[in-house]
Amino acid sequence: VRLQWPGAGLPRVDKHSTGGIGDKVSLLLAPLLACCGVQVPMLSGRGLGATGGTLDKLESIPGLRTDLTLEQIQSVVAKVGCVICGATDALVPADRKLYGLRDVTATVPSIPLITASIMSKKLAEGIDALVLDVKFGSGAFMKTEPQARALAESLVATGRRMGVATCALLTDMNQPLGRLVGNAVEVDEAVAALQGEGPEDLLEVTLALGGELLVLAQGAATLAEGRQQLTDALDSGAAYEKLAQMVAAQGGDLEAPRAVAPASAVRAPRTGYVVAIDAERLGETVIALGGGRHKLGDRLDHSTGFEMQVQLGDRVERGQPLARLFAHSTLAEAGHAALQGAITLGEAPPQVGPLILDRLE
Ligand code: URA
Repeated sequence: VRLQWPGAGLPRVDKHSTGGIGDKVSLLLAPLLACCGVQVPMLSGRGLGATGGTLDKLESIPGLRTDLTLEQIQSVVAKVGCVICGATDALVPADRKLYGLRDVTATVPSIPLITASIMSKKLAEGIDALVLDVKFGSGAFMKTEPQARALAESLVATGRRMGVATCALLTDMNQPLGRLVGNAVEVDEAVAALQGEGPEDLLEVTLALGGELLVLAQGAATLAEGRQQLTDALDSGAAYEKLAQMVAAQGGDLEAPRAVAPASAVRAPRTGYVVAIDAERLGETVIALGGGRHKLGDRLDHSTGFEMQVQLGDRVERGQPLARLFAHSTLAEAGHAALQGAITLGEAPPQVGPLILDRLE
């Protein structure tokens, strides 16, 4: 089944990430785009490997449902302009089954399976344009740039072959995107960003991906014009309002409090520069805290996670906070050790590459 969109209507677009740590771009981008004259019928996934899933993050909003019927998906898009939900028994039924099996069969970082997983969802949406955020680095399935490039080529070629205007950005995932990692806390960071208080790296990736889509969908003549439309939607508060409307249309309440586990400081064991961050290990830490699944069907504790207080290249003094951990007391000690172990301190500042490395079409 493919979603049907009778009548001419607005262009429909979507973005999909190949998976990262702290990647909450979808929560910002769907409402931003819906303010810019395009519709976004976004089918998302759950956590896979060490990466978090947009559906899991969204479900930390009290009442919000991601298991919508075809009719509900179409009606939320018609009313609000965007929806973020899961595949259904009728829509992309195979991906749900394969997705669940990949974690337990060690087939997560497979280019053909990632291509099939992402593109089956995106093609079923009946969209006109698609941008892919293909991540490389310690927190991505593709650890190196050449691997990510091969994945991007596979995704873009598949989209184009199926008649969807598709392009991809290669983006750095050697450290979390934004500062907050977990479920409820990532929603908090996305909401803060839509209220004008977002971290620079998160906004940079969001606006770059959105600008591409507005050009592909012919809403904007240039990337700069696309970014300006998105920035206006952010600055005016329209995109925040749009997210609140989408959440309400999916049964949730964005203003209801979202529980966050007790916070404690994770401190630097020595003085030095942050030379490496094992972002995959950071993602595994969230899973260990109950924020991700060990096996199919596990219930999540959406309240756990952490806030990074350093980035690659920062200099820290012994005892200075590296992160704030949000964990229940029995798991806090292991969480501290895992975060300390994932952040390597060294003598000399490291080379830090650009956040957005390249663009493929
Ligand atoms: N996102 C998906 O939807 N599927 C994958 O296989 C990887 C990231």
